[in-house]
Amino acid sequence: MTNNIFGHGSSFIQYPHHALRKVKDLFTIRCIPILGIACLTIQFILLTIYGHLGCGSETCDVETNKDSSFFRIFLGRFYKETVPVLPSCPPEPPDLEGYIKPTTEVLTWAELEYNYLNLQMGGRYKPLNCTSRHRVAIIVPFRDRDIHLKIFLNNIHPILKRQQLDYGVYIVDLDPAVSFNRALLLNVGFLESLKIYDYQCFIFHDVDLLPENDNIMYTCPDSPRHMSVAIDRMGYKLPYDKIFGGVTAMTKEQFYKVNGYSNRYFGWGGEDDDMFNRINATNQTITRYPKDIARYTMLPHVRQQENLARFDILKSGKITFHRDGINTLVYHRLTLDFRRLFTYILVTVNQTAIESGRGIRYNHDFTKS
Ligand SMILES: *[C@@H]1O[C@H](CO)[C@@H](O)[C@H](O)[C@H]1NC(C)=O
Ligand SMILES: *[C@@H]1O[C@H](CO)[C@@H](O)[C@H](O)[C@H]1NC(C)=O
Ligand SMILES: *[C@@H]1O[C@H](CO)[C@@H](O)[C@H](O)[C@H]1NC(C)=O
Ligand SMILES: *[C@@H]1O[C@H](CO)[C@@H](O)[C@H](O)[C@H]1NC(C)=O
Repeated sequence: MTNNIFGHGSSFIQYPHHALRKVKDLFTIRCIPILGIACLTIQFILLTIYGHLGCGSETCDVETNKDSSFFRIFLGRFYKETVPVLPSCPPEPPDLEGYIKPTTEVLTWAELEYNYLNLQMGGRYKPLNCTSRHRVAIIVPFRDRDIHLKIFLNNIHPILKRQQLDYGVYIVDLDPAVSFNRALLLNVGFLESLKIYDYQCFIFHDVDLLPENDNIMYTCPDSPRHMSVAIDRMGYKLPYDKIFGGVTAMTKEQFYKVNGYSNRYFGWGGEDDDMFNRINATNQTITRYPKDIARYTMLPHVRQQENLARFDILKSGKITFHRDGINTLVYHRLTLDFRRLFTYILVTVNQTAIESGRGIRYNHDFTKS
């Protein structure tokens, strides 16, 4: 090799193919692994930041949330930038009407489904031109009251839409072979609706109560809210101070804190007072709307069979609620059906096992988190 004007025997000028090879070596041997590591690091950081994109954020949508493939998660960040993010809905929904007269007209299912074609299957809805501030599941325990259900749905959907909620209606039914258990069905509705969407607020609603004013917001404040304060058949008066039945609202956290409802109240009565005790025992207080707003019409019905054991369960309930609730609920889901106006859930339980309190299985101790 001869020296050239650059000295040091540099081969760049004389041997251009050497230079090319050096560049090539540099990339294949050193740079590629370095770039590779850098690239992995960047991917890792992006994933950490944007990986849980989905229903944690307000802009999420169920479809994206379900697809957790690497590709989708990684690109989710860019989707987020290209899909226009709707502005938050105003704190005060603009289209509320105030007092409304509930309609008790009974339509057929076909008519109802035709009237509510703008609902998504499963009785779901969210505002089209803004991002709702509330993700709300309406949980309705149900048994064999088709007419009430039709009237209820025809009244509740227009109100929830005007309130600009991101909501779904869940009708929870119990195997006819088992005695009715309102509280247990409320627990089931809570757990099942959470499997479907990341709800933050739960309205536990009797099917025979119709709001008379759309200023009763179906949302969840900082402490549990009793909604059905003034019911027509009770002279629009609160029957007693500690009442927490009919229609109530609790956040996911508030509900976990009390371990949900008791599962042991088969038959009529007691479970709502038990919930009041749970709320009290966990140092939470109850809030209510004034009674000129929180007004409800109650549809006529035959009273169900009273649960005579309820007073005994109620007494022990204050102490044992950690061992009786969503952490011990065992049920089998028989049906999950996404219909136009609601999601239908049918379950069965072993009544003997629940009543005897034997074989309690802890799924998870929510009260200790
Ligand atoms: C969205 O639509 C509703 C009803 O059509 C309207 O009242 C409201 O002002 C709109 N909101 C925005 C942010 O455009
Ligand atoms: C409730 O508050 C009382 C008095 O402040 C306190 O002693 C008790 O530990 C609290 N209980 C819970 C479950 O937080
Ligand atoms: C719980 O109930 C007791 C007795 O009625 C009452 O003194 C107390 O203030 C209640 N606690 C809360 C947090 O409301
Ligand atoms: C229900 O539970 C009882 C008591 O734990 C048990 O003896 C019975 O076999 C169970 N029934 C069914 C159908 O699993």
